[in-house]
Amino acid sequence: MAIKLSPSMMCADFLRLNEEVKELEAGGADLFHFDIMDGHFVPNLTFGPFILEQLRPLTKLPFDAHLMVEEPAWMISEMVKAGADMVSVHVEANIHLQRTLALIRSLGAKAGVALNPATPLDTLRYILEEVDYILLMSVNPGFAGQEFVPSAKQKAQDLSAMLRQAGRQIEIHMDGSIRPYNLPELAAAGVSVFVLGSGLFGAYPRLREGLAAFRQAAGKA
Ligand code: DX5
Ligand code: ZN
Repeated sequence: MAIKLSPSMMCADFLRLNEEVKELEAGGADLFHFDIMDGHFVPNLTFGPFILEQLRPLTKLPFDAHLMVEEPAWMISEMVKAGADMVSVHVEANIHLQRTLALIRSLGAKAGVALNPATPLDTLRYILEEVDYILLMSVNPGFAGQEFVPSAKQKAQDLSAMLRQAGRQIEIHMDGSIRPYNLPELAAAGVSVFVLGSGLFGAYPRLREGLAAFRQAAGKA
């Protein structure tokens, strides 16, 4: 699958959001990743649907809302209304996961499932048909700038095998401490969408230079 780069907008400069969205699009971002945190599922808060709504007219690229929210059903239609094309929810935060996924699809968005580093892939077994993409966390969610959890690579390999066996060709996203040096091995393990936080924002003089470095790394995959 083609490799896609997905900047994590919680890491953007909020005083220059407009310019950064345009610069990221011009620099070759493929979609935008929005981290929604509720202060319960994760010990941090970010923003709600209004940020997506305000940014929506600036670009046609897909908006991916990563909901780190307990029982997020109430929020899903708000996110889609605000412009989310894709919505992922955490296995650990949804008692009625199948129903939540069906709700996302019923609103016309792609339904994603996110797994914390310690959550086994078995949790996906009976919902594979209801899922459009899977987001493997390679840090414990809540904060940017944490250390990569090494078992995430094996997990991506195992998930690739599981999807092959099930005949499901869907994207594997990885989120947490992605860098140009770890991207090629993770791509080889089956990850095709890379969420870019502290490895991109503030790590290069210009965002477009950072994206170029990741794009070059993707070329080596
Ligand atoms: C973490 C978020 C990530 C985060 C990634 O809870 O889901 O999207 O912004 O940031 P880095 O790449 O710095 O780990
Ligand atoms: Zn995220």
